[in-house]
Parts: sequence; C-alpha cells; structure tokens
Amino acid sequence: MATLLVGIPKETRLGETRIAMAPDAIKKLIKKGLAVAIEKSAGESAGFSDQDLETAGAQMVDTRAALGADIVFKIHRPNLTEVAQMKKGALLISLIEPYNNDGLMEKLAEAGINAVGMELVPRTSRAQSMDVLSSQGNVAGYRAVLEAAAQYGRFFPMMMTAAGSAKPAKLIVLGAGVAGLQAIAVARKLGAAVEAYDVRSEVKEQILSLGAKFIEIDVGEEGAGSGGYARELSEEGKKRLQAGLIERLKKADIIVSTANIPGRKSPTLIPEEAVKGMRHGSVIIDMAAANGGNCPLSEPDKIVTKYGVKIVGWTNYPAMVGSDASGFYAKNLMNLLFLMLPEKEAASALNINLEDDIIAAALVTHQGKVRFARK
Ligand SMILES: NC(=O)c1ccc[n+]([C@@H]2O[C@H](COP(=O)([O-])OP(=O)(O)OC[C@H]3O[C@@H](n4cnc5c(N)ncnc54)[C@H](O)[C@@H]3O)[C@@H](O)[C@H]2O)c1
Repeated sequence: MATLLVGIPKETRLGETRIAMAPDAIKKLIKKGLAVAIEKSAGESAGFSDQDLETAGAQMVDTRAALGADIVFKIHRPNLTEVAQMKKGALLISLIEPYNNDGLMEKLAEAGINAVGMELVPRTSRAQSMDVLSSQGNVAGYRAVLEAAAQYGRFFPMMMTAAGSAKPAKLIVLGAGVAGLQAIAVARKLGAAVEAYDVRSEVKEQILSLGAKFIEIDVGEEGAGSGGYARELSEEGKKRLQAGLIERLKKADIIVSTANIPGRKSPTLIPEEAVKGMRHGSVIIDMAAANGGNCPLSEPDKIVTKYGVKIVGWTNYPAMVGSDASGFYAKNLMNLLFLMLPEKEAASALNINLEDDIIAAALVTHQGKVRFARK
C-alpha cells in the first residue's frame, strides 16, 4: 500500500516566520508510517535549517510537491494559487478563517479538498493537544509582556539600588483567557504588580492563583458563553463595564488587553478617555488589534503614541517566537491528523469519521461540499 505523504509549504503571509512542522513532529509522523515533504528553506525563518529537517527524516522538495501531497499542513489558510496546486481528495489542516466570507471555503470544496479549520477545534479536554489557538495564545501572551517591558521606559520589578529605587510597574491584564493568563504569569515573574479582569467570573480563581488581583465589576449579567469563551454583553452591560474600568485603567502603567469573542469584533475596553488619563510613558499592548482592537486608538502592526502613551498593535506575536511556536503548532496538527489514522498499524489511508466530535466541529469542507455554517 502507498505511504501517505504529508506536505508542508513555506508560509507566504507577510511577516510570518513559523512553519507548520518541526523536527520532533517529523520523527513522530515517520514512526506512524507516513512520509514528510517540506518546501526547501521553509524552516529557515523559524530557526530550522533544511539539514535539521532532513536529519529528522523529511525530504526537501519544491513548492508544487509540498502542496501536492496527500495531506497538507499549513499555518495560515491557503491563497487561491496555493489551492490550485493541491490535489483532489487531499486533506488540508490549517487555519481557515471560516468567518471570512470571501469564498475560499467554496473554492476548497470545488477543488475536492477536505479542509480542517484549526480554529474550530472545540475547547474540550480531549481536544487540548490539538488546540492551536491555545498553544499560540500562550506564546503570544508571553511575548506580549516582553514587548511591554521593552517598550516601557521603566522597570517592572521593585528596584532598590545605591543610585535610587523604583516602584514595581502596575500592569492590568484585560481578558484572562489563554493569552491573558500567560501574560499575568510572565508579568508576575518579571516583578510587576498585576491586576486582571475578565467578564467570565469563573477565571477569578486562576487569576488569584497566579498572584494577581482580580478586578471585580458588576456588569449585571453573565459574561460566560459556551465552550470556555465569552458572550457579547448587552449595551447596558458594556456601559457598566467601561464605567467600572475607566478609573483603574488611568492608573495603570501598562495594559495588556486580550479580550476576544470568536467571530465578533473585539469589545472596546480602553476608550480614548482612559488613554488620555494615563501617565506619559505608559504602554498599552492591544493584542486584539487585528480584530478591531480593545482600544479604538490602536492600529494593526504599528506602534502609535497618543497622549504620550505608546499603543502597540502587533498582530502576530507567535511569529516573534517562531521556533517554539512552530514546534507547538506542528504537534497540534499532528495530533489532529492522528485522529484520522488507525491506532495500531502503519497508516496507509485516512478515516474521516464524522461521528467524532472534534472532526465534526472542525471539518469545514468534505467530499465537494462546504460543511461549515456561518452563524
Ligand atoms: N496579537 C497577536 O499576536 C495574538 C496572538 C494570539 C492571540 N491574539 C489575540 O489575543 C486575544 C486572546 O486570545 P486567547 O487565545 O487568549 O483567547 P481566549 O478566548 O482564550 O481569551 C479571551 C478572553 O477575553 C475575555 N473577554 C471577552 N470579552 C471580554 C470583555 N468584554 N471584558 C473582559 N474580558 C473579556 C474572554 O472571557 C476570554 O477569557 C484574541 O483577540 C486573539 O486574537 C493575538
């Protein structure tokens, strides 16, 4: 029986350093009876040389051969030129951006490509090892705090030296999901005094266990939605939230905001008035800048200074930690692929089991049809 080939092309999105493969995952895929073909030099920007990848067992190929494999692993959704190079019946595992209504899913279905959208993997215990939003959110939360520390002209920890002393920085994290909790942990390790708020009150214990204070605000309604995500607040709830936050935000030296609701524009939590009230030299890291931002003054992929406050809108922190982020990403994709392969014998055919809740949730196109329904 023919060996199934996993192909990994170089990412084409501007500024991307990651690749959807890493040496560890190559070894595991090969052990499972699969072959791995990677586009030449695709790992360079993530710190993996062609030789590292070959030593792990991959073949280095051209773009066409990587995209023409039985199974294609990617970070970002493919563009139409890439789709045209994929073969009918292939399995694509990547981010798909299913809420982006630009016809890509229809094109994938027409081309007979079965596509898994990694952002649709449910947040359940069984799916944890496949959750790219969590693995990359963790990386992003870590890197975002390092960015804040680098942009801030003062210390994070309390400092007592012969040349004078400094107070610990006051840092507020808004949204304590995966990225936010990691941001709290790293900011604490750096010695900042941290407070955090999330509309899902269930995360209070986690915030406290990381050594941060929980900001209590009564928004008058439940903020938790389904699957560990928030739901959108009513207009009244949003007003109460802004009123409860604003004076605290003015006193922060650094704000790291990560508030997000899947498929929606990010909620405004840091209005212009709050920025105006912050001390000159303060820093806002708006991690939601790609999706409308938690601060209306942030701009995607720019640092802007407003009222003396630096507002950082980088949209791809994981790409700034390309090597480890690629390693985590590759393992997530590999674990999802393993759901479609027999457990014991060597893999020679895929079994796309629609009864499996993870596959059922994440498979956006199958056998020529779009399965994903936009809400
Ligand atoms: N800039 C980057 O490089 C980068 C990288 C990864 C993630 N992100 C972004 O960071 C954000 C967080 O990602 P995540 O994986 O942690 O998501 P997540 O869903 O785990 O966390 C988002 C948190 O925001 C909270 N939230 C929603 N609405 C809120 C509100 N009105 N007030 C307070 N909290 C609210 C949610 O309850 C949740 O805990 C997303 O916007 C994501 O797109 C950015």
